[in-house]
Amino acid sequence: MKRTHHCNELRPTHIGQMVTLTGWVHSRRDLGGLIFIDVRDREGRTQTVFDPSDLPKDLFERAAALRSECVIRVAGKVRQRPEGTNNPKIPTGAVEVMVTELEVLNVADVLPFPVDDPEVASKVNEELRLRYRYLDLRRPEMARNLRLRSKVAMATRQYLDEQGFLEIETPLLFKSTPEGAREFLVPSRVNPGQFYALPQSPQQFKQILMVGGIERYYQLARCFRDEDQRADRQLEFTQIDLEMSFIEREDIYTLVEGMLKRIWKTALNLDVPTPFKRISYQEALNRWGIDKPDTRFGMELVDFTEEFRASKFKVFGGAVASGGVVKALNAKGLASVTQGQIDTMTEYAKGFGAKGLAYIKVEGGEWKSPIVKFFSDAEKASLAQKLKIEEGDLILFAADQWLNACEILGEIRRYCANLLKEQGKLTIPADRFDFLWVVDFPLLSFDKEQNRWYSSHHPFTAPVAEDIPMLKTDPKKVRGQHYDVVVNGVELGGGSIRIHQPDVQKTVFEEVLQIPPEETKLRFGYMLEAFRYGAPPHGGIALGFDRLNAILCGTPSIRDVIAFPKTAKGTDLMTESPAAVTPRQLRDLHIDVKVAKKD
Ligand code: AMO
Ligand code: AMP
Repeated sequence: MKRTHHCNELRPTHIGQMVTLTGWVHSRRDLGGLIFIDVRDREGRTQTVFDPSDLPKDLFERAAALRSECVIRVAGKVRQRPEGTNNPKIPTGAVEVMVTELEVLNVADVLPFPVDDPEVASKVNEELRLRYRYLDLRRPEMARNLRLRSKVAMATRQYLDEQGFLEIETPLLFKSTPEGAREFLVPSRVNPGQFYALPQSPQQFKQILMVGGIERYYQLARCFRDEDQRADRQLEFTQIDLEMSFIEREDIYTLVEGMLKRIWKTALNLDVPTPFKRISYQEALNRWGIDKPDTRFGMELVDFTEEFRASKFKVFGGAVASGGVVKALNAKGLASVTQGQIDTMTEYAKGFGAKGLAYIKVEGGEWKSPIVKFFSDAEKASLAQKLKIEEGDLILFAADQWLNACEILGEIRRYCANLLKEQGKLTIPADRFDFLWVVDFPLLSFDKEQNRWYSSHHPFTAPVAEDIPMLKTDPKKVRGQHYDVVVNGVELGGGSIRIHQPDVQKTVFEEVLQIPPEETKLRFGYMLEAFRYGAPPHGGIALGFDRLNAILCGTPSIRDVIAFPKTAKGTDLMTESPAAVTPRQLRDLHIDVKVAKKD
């Protein structure tokens, strides 16, 4: 009794044939003395019928005892469903199998949650879903997500293979290079007191592969970062990681645009227009208040620094006098917000460092606001014109240093967009994808607490050639040859052209980032050494593979596209990891654990 068909295959053309199906009892209905069982396998569902008048008593009784999710094999003849009982919702809905043989391959306990009803299943608490992930994976939605993910991986590999890339694995047992996120350490048994670290990305190995003459490398790489978990972050995740030699930024843009075009076509049958828009970091912040703008809706930030330079409203005038800016946005249609909602929004803005959130509600032909009384006619006229103010608008302001003002309003823009969506005043089609490149990031950012410069991305990013002379004199102004690819407000990936000259790299480590020479040698000595033996100019990028799939599947959480994700606390609820280990294991690893007592 071997399976003859999958559960999505039978059609009226099969009527009269003897078939064998295997799968899970998806649902059971007892009607008019008959038992109807929908058998489900990976591909779909088929209705089977058990008729007591045709079947041996014991077989019928076994069928009557079947619970949801028991595993069975049935054989029988395909027949047309009786008039009026077709199920147009499933491809096999015109036929059913009259069972003559039943084998129960395994029984199932009573389920902790139902997997047959999408309505109920979508409301099941996520902890329960993760605890019984194998049941969750049987839900069609999860099965579809994993299948799509596999297809996307295949399309990626095919595309990169066609472009001459070699898939090369790099070590997971790497060395600690504290930079960026916190790392996971792995103790070495044979080297007491020494540790490997799991890689945050294959960055250094892929660069060394370029020195090794590989020219084009890629990997669907596992990366590990001990960061706080969010919907778009996991402790371990996957990147489409790649690196190329003898190329410039434009070559990476073209390659990645082609790859995303291929992926979107394969996964969603959509044609993504290329080339993508390019926006400088400066422009992204000025217009959208964020370096990963969602350009599917307007509500752009408008600058009023000049207008309010001499304003009687001290909050604005004062901000400009101390070198800051005044920015505003128009949330069209939100004038109906209550004072309570404005207060909540103000608190939200304060969470991002705002000192307040000045506003104007345009209602009943009036500008309702505690601050308009301070505005001159010219200031009002300028606001009206540049923000295209109309009845029903809500204008929101940030007066602060440039970056703060932009970022605060950027968050408020997203907040308002969500409010408008909830109120049905903003709808974005599910198949709209706004891709863009964000370029010309500052190479360095300043850490006030530590009073030193650090790399905005990583220390291997090359400065824009003409800015190199400013590295030591005016680091703030140096642009990096870094690029991010963004879609619908999600940072999908980032990369850069790298430094390939050992002297420039050494300057960046020691003079710009002020890493002491001994430490540079300890942490990056092998890279500097490798670069002395003929490093080609090179660059690359890494795309978050989980984020990519979440976008394609239309889900906000990357957990929905990962077979076995971890919770926000970094735990795996199914295997109950992390967990304690035996004293013997610790002894072998030369580890003495002291857990600080919480008081
Ligand atoms: P970066 O750190 O920007 O660059 O990472 C690249 C992309 O990886 C994804 N990503 C994550 N996805 C899920 N969970 C996480 N915790 C997580 N962290 C990052 C994001 C991000 O855009 N080596 C460089 C790339 C390069 O320069 O070539 C790097 O790792 O989508
Ligand atoms: P105040 O004069 O402090 O009472 O502020 C008057 C209004 O301006 C209130 O609505 C504040 O929320 C708002 N406000 C205060 N500081 C800022 C700022 N830096 N940017 C924008 N609005 C502000």
